[in-house]
Amino acid sequence: MSKLAINGGPRAVPEDLEIAADWPIVTDEDKKALKRIIDSGDFWGKDHSETVALESEYAEFTGMDHCLAFNSGTAALHACVAGVGIEPGDEVLVPALTFLASATSVMHHNAIPVFVDIDPDTYIIDHTKIEEKITARTKAIMAVDYHGLPADYDEIYKVARKHNLVVIEDGAQAGGATYKGKKVGSLGDISGASTMPLKPLPGAGEGGLLCTNNKDYRDLADMVRMFGEVVEKGKKREYNAYTMGWNYRISPLIAAMVRSQLKRFDGYISARHKNGEYISKGLSEIPGIIPPFVPEDRTHSYYIYYFKVDPETAGVDISGGRFRQALHDILRAEGIFVRLSQHTPVPGQSLFQVKRGYGKGCPWTCPHGRDVPYNIEDYPKTLDVIRRSLALDVRFTYPHTSTKTVDKMIDGFGKVFEHLDEVVKYAKGIDYKEPWEEIAKLSPVEQHEEYVSEALYLHFRE
Ligand SMILES: Cc1ncc(COP(=O)(O)O)c(C=O)c1O
Repeated sequence: MSKLAINGGPRAVPEDLEIAADWPIVTDEDKKALKRIIDSGDFWGKDHSETVALESEYAEFTGMDHCLAFNSGTAALHACVAGVGIEPGDEVLVPALTFLASATSVMHHNAIPVFVDIDPDTYIIDHTKIEEKITARTKAIMAVDYHGLPADYDEIYKVARKHNLVVIEDGAQAGGATYKGKKVGSLGDISGASTMPLKPLPGAGEGGLLCTNNKDYRDLADMVRMFGEVVEKGKKREYNAYTMGWNYRISPLIAAMVRSQLKRFDGYISARHKNGEYISKGLSEIPGIIPPFVPEDRTHSYYIYYFKVDPETAGVDISGGRFRQALHDILRAEGIFVRLSQHTPVPGQSLFQVKRGYGKGCPWTCPHGRDVPYNIEDYPKTLDVIRRSLALDVRFTYPHTSTKTVDKMIDGFGKVFEHLDEVVKYAKGIDYKEPWEEIAKLSPVEQHEEYVSEALYLHFRE
């Protein structure tokens, strides 16, 4: 049994271990697709042939009637919110554990996110907690397929239909995953996906895709994408905005790359599954590590491999937070990169604590809004999951990562767990703070003052 690296022993995963580092994988076909646009000299247009082709191919891939391409996943999600007719002061239910953009895409339309705690086993919105958050202002549920696992759509639709709410799917992390045989992107009444280069379906830069079967939603989202105008191929442009709009058009270069990647996407997804399941099989044999739970009716994209630690099953007398923090430091020293994913429930981020949205308290204090409380203690399951979970180096689930490399990583976990007494000793010596306390360095008032004076300083500096 070799010494832990943190105590001067050799690393479990040597520095020179071959681990797939490049993502996206760029093939000659991708380069040809990009060159096709460069050679054409035609780099622009809402209805550029490359964009239209991507839209039709992705609609076919997801089995949806309509697809629109955007210049980011956030833009696509904002257009989902706008497209379904959400207005200022309307409320959208969003899981407390997600990437910020699920919530801010709601605020981009002056609407208000109301957070719901998560299921501690799947890390997705707890459908049993949705109903208690519904008010007369609630218009939609943002179901996030978080880390790559589709949400509980059947249960979510039951609540949504009862209360006449729209289901918006944030599938940004879950491209290629399925729920009851249906693909991510087809699970909400409308859905947004991200094709930024780190995502399972990547472009050569930022990008996003919106899908729906509802023509009205599609048409409004299309206007939002193009300055609020109705611009149709072959028709004279009126230069007249019918609604508030943005410039959310995708570059044809990005569209060309996503199209090219889409051709290989099925193969990449099955390879990600294989790696994800292989890792789970290996790690589940280590008492104290809880791999991500995937219900039988769905598949996971393994965009983020998020696992939980449990001191009790490991047989150690230490708190979950300390155990997680110790494993974080010790695994890293062994050459296994792990990190906290989110550090706080989304409502714990300063934006929500200080309510510095558009300024002057908006959207919460706008005449249609409401001063929604954002107390992180209201999301105990989210807090506990953050406290006890780590995200594994994304490269281990890349399609081109070999099982030999994965085995080395799993052996590294095994090595660390053979030294549990040292892990406990290390954990007891940590100056432990909860992850969300680490970011709350300034009180909301101080943060606000700091921000304001900084902004003024920058303004008057010249
Ligand atoms: C859950 C979730 N929603 C939305 C987004 C936003 O996508 P983008 O970065 O393409 O704007 C992301 C991406 O990073 C995400 O992970």
